[in-house]
Amino acid sequence: MTVRSSLTVVLAAGEGTRMRSSLPKVLHPVAGQSLLSHVLNAAASGEGSQLAVVIGPDHQAVADEARRVRPDAQTFVQAERLGTAHAVLAAREALAQGADDLLIAFGDTPLISAETFARMRAPLRDGAALAVLGFHAADPTGYGRLVVENGKLVAIREQADASAEERKITLCNAGVMAFAGKRALEIIEQIGNANSKGEYYLTDAVGIVRDLGLEAVVIETSEDEVRGINTKAQLAEAEAVMQARLRKAALDAGVTMIAPETVYLAADTTFGKDVVIEPFVVIGPGVSIADGAVIHSFSHVVEAEIGKKASVGPYARLRPGTSLGDGSRIGNFVETKAAKLEAGVKVNHLSYVGDAHVGANSNLGAGTITCNYDGFSKHKTLIGEGAFVGTNSSLVAPVKIGKGAYIGSGSVITKDVPDDALAVERNQQTIREGGAKRYRELKTKAKAPKGS
Ligand code: UD1
Ligand code: CA
Repeated sequence: MTVRSSLTVVLAAGEGTRMRSSLPKVLHPVAGQSLLSHVLNAAASGEGSQLAVVIGPDHQAVADEARRVRPDAQTFVQAERLGTAHAVLAAREALAQGADDLLIAFGDTPLISAETFARMRAPLRDGAALAVLGFHAADPTGYGRLVVENGKLVAIREQADASAEERKITLCNAGVMAFAGKRALEIIEQIGNANSKGEYYLTDAVGIVRDLGLEAVVIETSEDEVRGINTKAQLAEAEAVMQARLRKAALDAGVTMIAPETVYLAADTTFGKDVVIEPFVVIGPGVSIADGAVIHSFSHVVEAEIGKKASVGPYARLRPGTSLGDGSRIGNFVETKAAKLEAGVKVNHLSYVGDAHVGANSNLGAGTITCNYDGFSKHKTLIGEGAFVGTNSSLVAPVKIGKGAYIGSGSVITKDVPDDALAVERNQQTIREGGAKRYRELKTKAKAPKGS
């Protein structure tokens, strides 16, 4: 059997004014990834599949995001926003190539799955000219209503153009459509703008398909999968749905979470076996957690690689560029950034490790700080294997601590320390015998009630 070719057109030219944001709507994140990226990741990829994204004028950032996620994506600019059919025709050049299946989706519908895209292509194989994704809306207001007669889709009526009777229909247009690709362009070009908004409605394709004596069908899905984002409240609702999915997938993959509802994951988080995530952990994009690692409560982790059996937190902050070796331990109130910690490294309390490389099995005592920034630029701290950094030490970068070196507590290290050397930078301690006792007596006398 030969593979059917496909073209997926994602419409992302909307202004998104109701988001009240300077960021284009489709670039807002859900689970740490842009709305657009979720849709693009669900779209077909690989041999025989093409992808086109329709963007608004002045939305270079949207084009950049599209190409970051899918380097194979072509972008087309819709200069004027004259409706969804008009938007599709911005990608005319791609449509004209006549792929077997043409799929159209909206860039602001991030919960759509790859399975649904695949499911919509099935009726085309069986000869339908058009498949429309439908769902039963809890509140259908604002959606296009699917008018079905004898099991066949006969029309989609937009809210503004629907009769009182049609407005009672709860089966709504989710916005995703699949056209038999060979005739799609001819059909979409026939769409006019004779409606109450004067827009070119893609939904009018249904009537045209019927007039041509061809068949249109509905494929149903759940409302949660097709939530469109127009407002920040809807963005939060979509986030909740996505988090529920990601938590379930993590649990199914064997991650232990006793309070999954308090754990935030990113769409690209990866887990090994026997990973434990305690309550109230936030994981941002670009995080991988290897076998047996434990993330304790109240930790915040972004763009970090966590090795096997590593322990993080409670109250740890791993910032971008952190890599923790196997069996390493990051304790409470420790912050790391652009830091590679080899296997067995311990940083158990109250430290900042940034722009650093720490050799295997080194121990950084409580309050160790890498002073990586001099107010102008960042510098590196290199610590060899098996080094011991005493508590409350400042390592002023650029600086190198040799293998097996030992830094006395409270030191401010500004010069390189050779392998196996002991470095102490601190004032001489003075002792006054009996001094504390004399001091107490003096104070007690001064405090005694007058006249006694
Ligand atoms: C659309 C559907 C409606 C469906 C609903 C589902 C039409 C005519 N109506 O209505 O049946 O129930 O989605 O959410 O298709 N866009 C452009 N250029 C334009 C206009 C829109 O790129 O000129 C993009 C938008 O960025 C958005 C999508 O198309 O991603 C949908 O446009 P929108 O105006 O939100 O359509 P709805 O009124 O929600
Ligand atoms: Ca919409």
